[in-house]
Amino acid sequence: MESKQSIHGSWANRWIFILAATGSAVGLGNIWKFPYITGENGGGAFVLVYLVCILMVGIPIMMGEILVGRRARQSPINAVMETAAEAGRSTRWGVIGWLGVLSGFTIFSFYSVVAGWVLHYIAGMGTGQLVDVGSEEAGQRFTDLLASADQMLVWHTVFVLMVVAVVAGGVNKGLERATKVMMPALFLLLLVLLGYSATSGSFAEGWSFLFSFSPEALTWDAVLVALGHSFFTLSLGMGAIMAYGSYMGKKDSIGATVITIGVLDTLVALVAGLAIFPIVFANQLDPGAGPGLMFITLPVAFGQMPGGQVFGFLFFTLVGVAAWTSAISLLEPAAAWVVERFGMRRPAAALVLGIIVWLLGIACLLSFNHWSEIKIFTLSIFDFLDFITANVMLPLGGLLIALYTGWVLNSGMTKDELALGCNKSYAAWRFVIRFIAPVAVLIIFVVNLYDKLA
Ligand code: PFF
Ligand code: NA
Repeated sequence: MESKQSIHGSWANRWIFILAATGSAVGLGNIWKFPYITGENGGGAFVLVYLVCILMVGIPIMMGEILVGRRARQSPINAVMETAAEAGRSTRWGVIGWLGVLSGFTIFSFYSVVAGWVLHYIAGMGTGQLVDVGSEEAGQRFTDLLASADQMLVWHTVFVLMVVAVVAGGVNKGLERATKVMMPALFLLLLVLLGYSATSGSFAEGWSFLFSFSPEALTWDAVLVALGHSFFTLSLGMGAIMAYGSYMGKKDSIGATVITIGVLDTLVALVAGLAIFPIVFANQLDPGAGPGLMFITLPVAFGQMPGGQVFGFLFFTLVGVAAWTSAISLLEPAAAWVVERFGMRRPAAALVLGIIVWLLGIACLLSFNHWSEIKIFTLSIFDFLDFITANVMLPLGGLLIALYTGWVLNSGMTKDELALGCNKSYAAWRFVIRFIAPVAVLIIFVVNLYDKLA
């Protein structure tokens, strides 16, 4: 029992696990999504609520996900069923794993479209097409890309193939090595960009937009978005972190590891915001511009920076890699399950799943052009999938994980697995996971529903 291993492999050491989980966490959510939703929701107050959600809801739930995965050492669907059986509870809780697989597919479909835009911009920077663009031209170029289903299809397809290739090979080798090089490089380049925006952008304005708290800007809508984003950005509520946890060493401390991942993810998001908003304000762009924000501001900044073409190329490359390591973790839980359930070989499993997400992604990318008329509750297909995953499916998955690890599993199991050393830390975790996290998610859900219906 103690030396149980996953049939899929395990991380070489604790740091590899941290890097892989950070690779999953740090992605488009930090560099693309965080700045634009902060812009749409008025800045400082939103950021504060987001930080509270990370600390009080995200971190404890991440611990819960990892402990379930590591206990059972199987794909999320099977891990939940097996731990439920161990606790003498109904294996119907396995529905948490199913919800996760569904969320993973749904997120993948729009994530891959955005990652496709990133690939397009890598090419644009590399070939010098984006040298010296002003804010108007940058905006036009982005609009043109959205209008071209063909271009988006090409890049979306390339991205799906990149992800399938890694999942097919198993997570151990290629992925571990890539993250080790790319994550520090990403951080370094973010700092370079931060330096540029500090010297050439309206830094003070950008700073106060992010960090000055004005409670009147806060709506329940914004609170829901902040909560949803804290799940999205930490890759919670769908089994990605649970799957990665199932490859984690038995002796490694879950608590310390999770805090490291949470801090790194939050730092990247804040630095991305500090790099982007000063440029927005210096160029009279609109902070509430929505999904196009990063794709318009960054080319403007790079277009004017000395050596901007090279930096721009490197920067978008790293955003692409960040997206890549995240998307791998979107597919991994389902792939591991297919291997376990049907005894299918990994490459075949990855390919089948890749085809499904590829098709879903096509519906998403068409919603910017040929299918732009189609609306689901007033939202385009792309916006709807983005909204429903982050604001409904992931919080629901997270809520279930909190209830499951807090109330369904017995404390003997969770205490043993978390091994927090001191009893006080364990009691604190257990209190938060049983009461604070579920109640917070429920209140935010209910109030929003009430708001929508009233
Ligand atoms: N955490 C990723 C990001 O911030 O870009 C997105 C993500 C990856 C969400 C994996 C969920 C997931 F399971
Ligand atoms: Na993230």
